[in-house]
Amino acid sequence: MPPLKPLLIFGTRPEAIKMAPIVRHCQQSPDVSPIVCLTGQHKEMLAQVTEYFEIEADIDLKLMQPNQTLASLTARCLEKLDAVLQATEPHCVVAQGDTTTVLSAALCAFYRRLPFVHVEAGLRTGDLYAPWPEEMNRRVASITTSLHCVPTQKSAENLYRENYPQTQVHITGNTVIDSLLYTVERERQNGEVWSQKYDFLGTNPMVLITGHRRENFGSGFLEICQAISELSQRFPETSFVYPVHLNPNVQKPVHDLLANLKNVYLVSPAPYPEFVWLMDRSTLILTDSGGVQEEAPSLKKPVIVMRETTERPEAVEAGAVELVGTSREKIVSSISLLLSNSIEYSKRQVDKNPYGDGKSAKRIVDLMLAQKWHH
Ligand code: UD1
Ligand code: UDP
Repeated sequence: MPPLKPLLIFGTRPEAIKMAPIVRHCQQSPDVSPIVCLTGQHKEMLAQVTEYFEIEADIDLKLMQPNQTLASLTARCLEKLDAVLQATEPHCVVAQGDTTTVLSAALCAFYRRLPFVHVEAGLRTGDLYAPWPEEMNRRVASITTSLHCVPTQKSAENLYRENYPQTQVHITGNTVIDSLLYTVERERQNGEVWSQKYDFLGTNPMVLITGHRRENFGSGFLEICQAISELSQRFPETSFVYPVHLNPNVQKPVHDLLANLKNVYLVSPAPYPEFVWLMDRSTLILTDSGGVQEEAPSLKKPVIVMRETTERPEAVEAGAVELVGTSREKIVSSISLLLSNSIEYSKRQVDKNPYGDGKSAKRIVDLMLAQKWHH
């Protein structure tokens, strides 16, 4: 029997972090002969991850253009990925999450009648515009999917409600935890290097910040920056470390509004191991990121999420994550409470991460092999 030949497609920072353990398991299995294809939807931020996990791509489409629009990126992605499918003739196509790369991979697989494996399937907010355009991307991906690898029971139930066959839905946990556990152990050993790089933090409390959601561009980011500015003055002994996403719609307001504050440190996007160390070093995290919401509970860090809704309700229910939207007032009051009240703070430190146990990639690769698409 020939080995299974899956085409593993990814293109942005979070997809690379979450696909890295699957790439590794496929490469280590004698029964799998994977083809790794990067769309290059991201450039520097993708390279930071592939370098760390030593992923050598078979194909790199290098699609990113500065300030790309959703439609133009989708068009380029569809055209180039279809040519890759034609040239490589995989047994199945595998992609993770809800980006333009995933939407395009799912459509291309469908057009060529190839099985599509959706990693981190079943996430829903129920609002097509939040997150935008990701909620649409993940719904379209589901329609084309043959094997839905869902992280939790709740994400499985979302798919059952939409009448997807239960036999095609498997709870695997989220591979983000595989990568996190591997990395945090290594970077704790490497802590001296990072402590020296960040020696300006001393032993003071630290709030780690990330933000990039399209639905927050404009007035949302204005309020977020005003809140950070107010907090930095209210808590002069606390450091606010903000690795700023490279999207120009984020870079401009953040640098315009926050560049000159004494205890606010605007830095470049941190390579994944460095960011994991920063999360581990932080007191709490202010973010609109999906991945960070999943990771932080493992490090016992409270998360304040600058969104109105989340497709990751498990950590909210566990008490680790609080949704505050982008209102300046709510961001300021929630963070002020956690920085000044240790009882409230400790209530947010949960014992078990609902998103995974670090063994998700193996489950996913085993499931792929069990489909017998290569027979
Ligand atoms: C994309 C995903 C989003 C995901 C996020 C992770 C879509 C529609 N959005 O959003 O779901 O949460 O990635 O970070 O798929 N840029 C660089 N260098 C980089 C990366 C980005 O300069 O390495 C700049 C470029 O100007 C680029 C812009 O950021 O055009 C936007 O990148 P894009 O991938 O379209 O959107 P993100 O906002 O990064
Ligand atoms: N991350 C990183 N460097 C940073 C910020 C985030 O490596 O400066 C990691 C983080 O640990 C998480 C992922 O990137 O695993 C989240 O990516 P992002 O917030 O860009 O996308 P989302 O998860 O919202 O799709």
